[in-house]
Amino acid sequence: MAAVVDDLLAAGPLTCAEQRRVAHAEGLNGENRAELGQYFTPAPIARLLAGMFEPPEGRVRVLDPGAGVGSLSAALVERAASEGWRCSLDLTAVEIDDRLLGGLESTLSDCLEVIPSAQGRVEHSDFLTWAATQAEPEIFQHDRQQFDLVIMNPPYGKLRTASASHERLRRLGVRTSNLYSAFVWLASRLLAPGGQLVAITPRSFCNGSYFRSFRQALLDDCSLRDIHVFESRDTAFRDGAVLQENIVFRIVRSPQRSPVQISVSSGSGLDEARRHHVSADSVVHPTDPRLFIRIPEDRSSVELAEQMGGLPLTLAGLGVTASTGRVVDFRSREHLRDDCEGDTIPLIYPAHLRQGRVKWPGESSSKPRAIAVSPETEGMFLPSGEYVLIKRFSSKEECRRVVAAVLEPADLPSEVVAMENHVNVLHVSNRGMERDLAWGLAVYLNSTVVDLFFRQFNGHTQVNAAHLESLRYPDVQSLQALGAKARSVEFGQAALDTLLERHVPALKGLR
Ligand SMILES: C[S@@+](CC[C@H](N)C(=O)[O-])C[C@H]1O[C@@H](n2cnc3c(N)ncnc32)[C@H](O)[C@@H]1O
Repeated sequence: MAAVVDDLLAAGPLTCAEQRRVAHAEGLNGENRAELGQYFTPAPIARLLAGMFEPPEGRVRVLDPGAGVGSLSAALVERAASEGWRCSLDLTAVEIDDRLLGGLESTLSDCLEVIPSAQGRVEHSDFLTWAATQAEPEIFQHDRQQFDLVIMNPPYGKLRTASASHERLRRLGVRTSNLYSAFVWLASRLLAPGGQLVAITPRSFCNGSYFRSFRQALLDDCSLRDIHVFESRDTAFRDGAVLQENIVFRIVRSPQRSPVQISVSSGSGLDEARRHHVSADSVVHPTDPRLFIRIPEDRSSVELAEQMGGLPLTLAGLGVTASTGRVVDFRSREHLRDDCEGDTIPLIYPAHLRQGRVKWPGESSSKPRAIAVSPETEGMFLPSGEYVLIKRFSSKEECRRVVAAVLEPADLPSEVVAMENHVNVLHVSNRGMERDLAWGLAVYLNSTVVDLFFRQFNGHTQVNAAHLESLRYPDVQSLQALGAKARSVEFGQAALDTLLERHVPALKGLR
């Protein structure tokens, strides 16, 4: 047994941590895992995170929040030792789960064997409470712990809104409902000036209104320096669990400086990443009030973003509004009908959007096709007219994220229509729009260039009204000319793309 341990030590602290990680993961059931977000980082990805820091100098205080068995600290120590960093490391690993403490202590002592001048300690605490105490404004400056490097793979899941930590965070101005963003937000508050934070997290914080305050806080206090994305969204690198798309990023507590380095690898952590630099403005557009974080993965994506950003109009500038369909089916069950009979009107679901048109009633399906007209439902209806409908969730099989279709009055046998909540609707003050404009908008939204651009800021398959509002659009005349032609063209990707290029020359050659 001693010989085995010696061999492992000789192999380095990360290899030993890897054995502990695998042993612990094998003993986990789904419940523990979900409760504490115990999706540990395999060694190659831990190395990738550690590899993102600029080598620091002097006394370097390192924080590993939600440390698990210490794989990330071990990866950092291995890098420091192999590159001969001229610094003295002081490690703090915070972990809540007492079943992991033995393994974590062992990993830290392996680290101290590799760099004898280093120091290390385990804090057995809830990181949120621990960090909130450190970040509290009433703590005198000299008592406050600050860190030069933070390396983290935070747990994720909902932060219980009724919990004491949620209330405490709210008082500190940390307003978020997700564990991972709360971890990163608090950890960033503990960075010393010039301190660096590297984290692997879901990509979901890069867009969407839920995470806006989080993005604002990060971008106000820190600068985004590196973003790493994985080619395959299904890469199973967190203990074999296929989860949502993850990214790795590095922020520095200092004013924003261009450029930002974007790197892309397969997700195995074993291949050489492709890298390029982009201006900070092409990641967070200076005039974007939503502060979406876009990730142009290569040069042509930067060019695409610039061309799209140069289009003249917003949706509001076109006089058009994006809303989600008003019928939430599980809340309106008693009003839903299988077919349009008696005093009912058509109800449009995403399945009715086919080949750029609305095909209602469509093939037989388990979904209702109509909704009863009553004082309770009337507020959910729109008068018949030309609308553009967009699916809110694109299925995995769909090759495009944005799937749009035109609804014309003749498509339905009624004077009013209702849209289900999984459909977005483009309308003009709750009425339809001019027909050619509707067709032009649908072609534009269904185009390859919009799809490519959309993927830069939207890591998931959801398309919200806010996403549609954040896009820029061609001028009205071009959209109308495009729409006038599109009606007579058979629906097909190549034909739509060619039509768009002909009518909006600024978008030529970008796909
Ligand atoms: C995604 S795992 C990552 C573990 C380790 N850093 C790694 O990369 O392998 C998140 C870790 O955070 C711990 N954790 C969850 N909630 C915590 C909390 N409130 N305070 C401290 N640690 C917590 C979990 O027990 C788990 O070890």
